[in-house]
Order: sequence, then structure tokens, then C-alpha cells
Amino acid sequence: MAEAPDLKRGRFLVPGGAGFIGSNFVRMIRKRFPDSRVTVLDKLTYAGNLANLESLSGDPGYRFIKGDICDAKAVTAAMEGCDLVVNFAAETHVDRSIEKAHEFVLTDTFGVYVLLEEARRAGVRRFLQVSTDEVYGEILGEAANEESPLLARNPYAASKIGGERLAYSYFATYGVPTIVTRGSNNYGPFQHPEKLIPLFVTNALQELPMPVYGTGKNTRDWIHVDDHCAAMLAILAAKDVEGETFNIGAGNEKSVLEITALILDRLKKPQSLIRHVTDRPGHDRRYAIDMSKLAKRTGFQPSVAFERGIAATIDWYVENRSWWESVRSGEYRHYYERMYGAR
Ligand code: NAD
Ligand code: DAU
Repeated sequence: MAEAPDLKRGRFLVPGGAGFIGSNFVRMIRKRFPDSRVTVLDKLTYAGNLANLESLSGDPGYRFIKGDICDAKAVTAAMEGCDLVVNFAAETHVDRSIEKAHEFVLTDTFGVYVLLEEARRAGVRRFLQVSTDEVYGEILGEAANEESPLLARNPYAASKIGGERLAYSYFATYGVPTIVTRGSNNYGPFQHPEKLIPLFVTNALQELPMPVYGTGKNTRDWIHVDDHCAAMLAILAAKDVEGETFNIGAGNEKSVLEITALILDRLKKPQSLIRHVTDRPGHDRRYAIDMSKLAKRTGFQPSVAFERGIAATIDWYVENRSWWESVRSGEYRHYYERMYGAR
């Protein structure tokens, strides 16, 4: 096994770095490791947003390339000179995958293959494939550990299994130093308002209904995006993790109704904004993951208490109205009408 890389002088390629988690990750690298270099490769789909990276404009350690991970030429050019690949690029919204899975299969599975082929040719030091706890499917009993079966139940999660198994196969077959992480539900600044928390906060701020799917008793394990990013860095800095998979969660299991109540309370908005609507088809009732491997192998522990993190997140959307108003214009309006218009 190779020595752990020196992240301080890492040459990072971050596909999908203009999205929610990717942009938080890129900012964290540049802040923690001033001698690092980061290249973001992003297709700028509806979810990619250069405003998420605005604070880095003029930073000589950062460059942006617009491109598709399914395009081998674009990937070859972007990977030049990089030794650490952390792949966030994906179609990520479950409801959109239910509407049409085509782009999910392309980006989340085929796109990962294109990146892996180039990583193999270029001989990178490490390749971290950012996967999701949704690959386990719904967890009604004991929390899933890394050996639990992969029983994904929606097209997004199934496509993510394709990507992460390809990453592992490139390790087992060709010795490409891949690592897979399975993160739980993230929250924090710069999350697209199609996802539960920013959707409900921004709807409430506009006195629009908060569309709770079905009973609202479905639960997720919430992790602040800073903890998710810090955990990935802890894994990248650890020894002998090639070919390994790590769950990344924070043990904050909350139902949709609990989250909704917290948002209404913080914004001092009325309960009457809650609207129970038709459930998501195949809606996974619960995700729950065991994080003991991550703690044991890296010593990492999440540090953002949920109550503090959610309050700060709600406040961020209150204070950054122009960011989300811009995202909520254009394509979003058509999406919202399709998704919620007749629900
Ligand atoms: P996001 O939707 O906010 O961002 C995705 C980014 O990928 C966007 O910038 C988009 O433009 C880019 N992209 C999409 N297709 C591309 C392509 N073909 N080529 C290049 N770029 C492309 O997503 P996110 O919520 O930040 O999630 C990032 C990663 O983390 C994804 O791989 C996702 O599966 C995983 N993940 C997300 C969560 C979560 O709660 N959000 C939890 C666990 C894992
Ligand atoms: O678990 C990790 C996954 O978390 C990531 O891999 C995905 O990329 C990310 O989108 C997220 O998936 P979820 O489906 O859990 O997230 P979402 O925000 O779409 O939904 C969270 C919960 O809120 C879920 O139970 C469905 C519910 N919900 C969601 C929306 C958008 C509603 O009740 N109403 C809504 O309008």
C-alpha cells in the first residue's frame, strides 16, 4: 500500500465542484491548504452554479473548467497535473430521477467510468468517489454498515451503485487507488432549493406551502456539509484506505415533520404552511448508517451539533436571499410546476 498523500500540496481535481457539497469542499481545501491547487471540472447543469465559488475568484490556487465528465477529452485536459481526484459530479435529486433517469445513468455511472479510465492512464495518487447512503435502500432495522447489502430502490441510488462499484472494480482489477464514501443527507449553505431543507426554508420565507410527502414521518440522518467535507479530507489523509468504503454520517436522525417544525419555529411562521401532498413513489422510509469504521480508521468525529447547524443554515438562507432568488428563477419554475403543480 502507498503512503498517504500530502494534502497540503495536493493537486486536486474536483468534478462537480460547482454544486452544493463540491463548492463547500473546494472552499475548505483552499482555506486549509494554501499551497494546494484545485481544478473544478463542472458541466454547469441546472444544479451547478458559479456563484457558489464566487469567493474564490482571483485565487491563483483555483481554476474552473466547464466540461462534462462523460466527455473523455474534457476529462483528459482537466486531469493533467492533478494527483488527487474527488468526484462529486452527479445528477443528485431523487424526484428528478423518478421523472427521468437517463442523465442519472449517464453521469452517475458512465461518467464515473470515464473519470476512472483517465485516472488509470494518468496514474493518480488517490481517487475518491463520493457516493451516498441511499445505496443501502431503506433501513428499517439496525443501521447499515459498509458490509450491508446494496438494495437501492430509486434510479438515482441505483446509478450511484454503478459508479461506486466501477470505482472499486478499478482498484481490484487495475490497482487504481480508489476510495468510496457513502454520505448521509447533507445540509448547509449553497444547497439547491429542490432539496428538503432549502426548499422548505425558502418557501416559508415567501409564505408558500411546505409540501410534505405523505405522512412526513420518513427519517434521514442529517450531517452538516462541513462535517461531510472534513470527513472526506480525514479519509484522504489516512494510510491504507485504497479499495475501502466509508460511511459518513452524524447520527442526527430526524423526520421530515421534525425538520419542518424547526424551520417554522426559527422563521416564526405558522403551522398552516404545512401541506401534506402525494407521496414520492417508492419513498424510502428511513436511512441510518453506522459510522464506527470512519471513527476507528481516521479518528474523525463530526463537530457540528445539529441544533446549531440547522439554525445557522436557516439564517444563511435568510441572509442570502439574492442567491436563492436567482436559483429559483428560470428552469426551477418549470421544475416546480411539474413537480408540485398538481400534487
Ligand atoms: P448538486 O446537485 O448540488 O451538484 C452536482 C454538481 O455536479 C453540479 O455542479 C453539476 O453541474 C455537476 N454535474 C452534473 N452532471 C455533470 C457532468 N456530467 N459532468 C460534470 N459535472 C456535472 O449535488 P450535491 O448535493 O452537492 O452532491 C454532490 C455529490 O455528493 C453527488 O455525487 C451526490 O451523489 C453525493 N451525495 C450527496 C448528498 C446530499 O445530501 N446532497 C449526500 C451524500 C452523497
Ligand atoms: O441520503 C443521501 C441523499 O440525500 C443524497 O444522496 C441525495 O443526493 C440527496 O438528494 C438526499 O436524498 P433525499 O431523497 O433523502 O433528499 P430530499 O431532500 O429530496 O428529501 C429528504 C426527505 O424529505 C425525504 O424523506 C423526502 C422528503 N421531502 C422532500 C422534498 C423535496 C418532502 O417531504 N417534500 C419535498 O418537497
